[in-house]
Amino acid sequence: MVNIGILGLGTVGGGVVNVLTKNQAEITRRSGTNIKVTHAAVRDINQERICPTDNLELTQDPFSIVNNDNIDIVLELMGGTGIAKELTEQALKNGKHVITANKALIATDGNDLLALAKENNVHLLFEAAVAGGIPILKSLEQGLSANQIEMVAGIINGTSNFILTEMRDKGRDFDDVLKEAQALGYAEADPTFDVEGIDAAHKLAILASIAFGCELQFDKVSTEGISQIQGEDVAFATELGYSIKHLGIAKKIDGKIQMRVHPTLIPKTRLLANVDGVMNAVLVKGNAVGPTLYYGAGAGDEATASAVIADLIDIIKGTVSNDVLGWQSFESIPCQSNDSIESIFYLRLLASDEPGVLSDITSILANHNISVEAVVQKQVDEQNNAHIAIITNKVKTIELNTAVEEIQKNNFIQETVKIIHIETLD
Ligand code: NAP
Ligand code: HSE
Repeated sequence: MVNIGILGLGTVGGGVVNVLTKNQAEITRRSGTNIKVTHAAVRDINQERICPTDNLELTQDPFSIVNNDNIDIVLELMGGTGIAKELTEQALKNGKHVITANKALIATDGNDLLALAKENNVHLLFEAAVAGGIPILKSLEQGLSANQIEMVAGIINGTSNFILTEMRDKGRDFDDVLKEAQALGYAEADPTFDVEGIDAAHKLAILASIAFGCELQFDKVSTEGISQIQGEDVAFATELGYSIKHLGIAKKIDGKIQMRVHPTLIPKTRLLANVDGVMNAVLVKGNAVGPTLYYGAGAGDEATASAVIADLIDIIKGTVSNDVLGWQSFESIPCQSNDSIESIFYLRLLASDEPGVLSDITSILANHNISVEAVVQKQVDEQNNAHIAIITNKVKTIELNTAVEEIQKNNFIQETVKIIHIETLD
């Protein structure tokens, strides 16, 4: 018998109890033992739960769980980096394995926590922290272990993907869809983590660390969310043959790593462009296997529980894949500066409808060696402004930014020029 203490019995914690109950026979067979959730910590003991609580002890004191000698494994499913960090440290120091779904905690404090786990000869596992139910960390560690990983690119925030999909397919308002994502339990406690790209940046830092065998470097991830995407961008993208997705991209080029999360136009013909709603997908390119793609629910109670329980079974069976004892041999790999990253770009401009405006814009781009691959201009609006979308060739980010700054200075430009990366994912 293995006794489990859960810190947090919300969406994920409740999902874990439900999946352990409904799949008890399978999980017992696979782990070779009975798993019993004996205790769970919550803030409000009287709140209604999504799972039964009659067979476990609820407490408002999470430290009583990490200090309980009868608990073998702790599941940290409360979130945040304050008390969750203290509890994780205490559990590891007490010689307990810890499983967490908390990407914020791992991305920001993972280097220290993993060292602490190693020191105490226990495991700290976090499959559920990245891409919900998709076993992407185990795939990188196990199935792709023969490869040098060249690129990881994925839709890794379910809330953002849900919002973008609803805006495109139903013309819904951004705030309205965000509220629905919160009600469905997809969003973070602070949803700015989702819509400003921070949650995806946490996940990308973890993916890059495992893919390239380096320390976690969350502070090096260039981060932009979907909050500035407008219905007009979605419409232009569709007209030009693209879908807008929020992508996390990590590449290793010439010994340096680039890590960035931002809205991205992807050609509609690519599989990633067709990953909709709360679904996530991660494309991994290995130098032996070539491109591989992993798809599944990126958030939600039972999907995330699936990943938490897989870690639990790994620990019980002693078949841990992302072995913390190997982690500390990871090297420190330098990161590429954002300015030097090369990309194709989409620009959206609102310009006065005057003769010569379009040619002025394209001339400025040409002066910076940027060529125009496509232009779409919508009908002039009531304010006599033209709505223009431009697709460039592949250029360095710094060159594009310099050219756009110059365009922006002209009186005929009526609002800030919108810049979005385009990725062909070749
Ligand atoms: P949630 O629904 O808000 O649940 C959090 C739980 O933690 C609640 O039960 C809450 O108690 C409890 N809690 C919070 N602070 C506490 C404290 N100081 N003492 C005792 N209990 C406390 O959150 P969630 O969506 O399950 O997310 C949990 C973690 O999983 C987060 O790190 C999140 O990023 C991660 N994650 C979530 C998903 C998802 O789809 N939701 C997917 C992957 C990863 P009350 O219920 O009494 O308030
Ligand atoms: N808020 C996160 C998301 C939960 O929407 O992807 C899953 O990590």
